[in-house]
Amino acid sequence: MKHLLKLLDWSKEEILETLDLADKLKAEKKAGIKHPLLEGKTLGMIFQKSSTRTRVSFEVGMYDLGGTPLFLSSKDLQIGRGEPVQDTARVLSRFLDGIMIRTFDQQEVEDLAEYGSIPIINGLTDFCHPCQVLADLQTIREYKGTLEGRKLCYIGDGNNMANSLIVGCLKVGMKVAIACPKGYEPDDSVVAWAKENGDLLITEDILEACKGADVLYTDVWASMGQESEAAKRQRIFKNYQINDEAVNAANENVMVLHCLPAHRGEEITDKVLEEHADQIFDEAENRLHAQKAVLVKCFLD
Ligand code: CP
Ligand code: NVA
Repeated sequence: MKHLLKLLDWSKEEILETLDLADKLKAEKKAGIKHPLLEGKTLGMIFQKSSTRTRVSFEVGMYDLGGTPLFLSSKDLQIGRGEPVQDTARVLSRFLDGIMIRTFDQQEVEDLAEYGSIPIINGLTDFCHPCQVLADLQTIREYKGTLEGRKLCYIGDGNNMANSLIVGCLKVGMKVAIACPKGYEPDDSVVAWAKENGDLLITEDILEACKGADVLYTDVWASMGQESEAAKRQRIFKNYQINDEAVNAANENVMVLHCLPAHRGEEITDKVLEEHADQIFDEAENRLHAQKAVLVKCFLD
């Protein structure tokens, strides 16, 4: 068994094996070939934040793999009333075969893994969103054929998505440019890691970041948990948008991706989103295939 707590913990080989498996599971599903690799297994899915894609992809993914998912809202769990994560981990390890958790603090995910005895999968924390980035890499490879040497430009907040994109892209040999306002850079630990491990540019200059990009990526200006800062962030981020100017500054045939949900007119224009809807909704679909690959790797490796 293995955990997926953050992409920093996974090797390039583990990431590429997961993408290959995701492609295989996708092709089998399209061909109507069943793959009950996790028959009889149960996955607990703990959500301390809202979700559409992560919840549905893991839930459908478990059924596709012959297993059973349990949706566990933290509102209804004792963890939501203060039961320590150390105890929750040990109890749930006696009932379940794996846990997927979406929460605020990365430490909570790390603690679940430390105290539990079953695979733990990070379904988003304030620090990172590894499952999303595996689906993103699968989508980029589908459209561009290769990952090595490609450049991804992320425009917006240096948040959980930016942190995970930097790590995931650099690990597979891509280059990354982040355009963000001063004070909203990605996590210091990720930037320090990137300095030793690849080609990362961080700049306030959006057009400089877009230059030579094969992929443009953005995410909301205010993440879950930052709702009270939304108005302030609208002012600070107002120029950090994927629009025609950004697309024109990038390579010809640039892909545009967005983890979704999107706020049209904020981080991306409605026009650019609709012009790249095939890519963005293929990316959303790939959450299913990539998450199934993650489940198989974490349960069976
Ligand atoms: N991209 C993503 O994780 O979407 P949800 O918040 O809907 O799960
Ligand atoms: N940065 C966003 C990503 C949502 C998938 C958030 O954390 O809300």
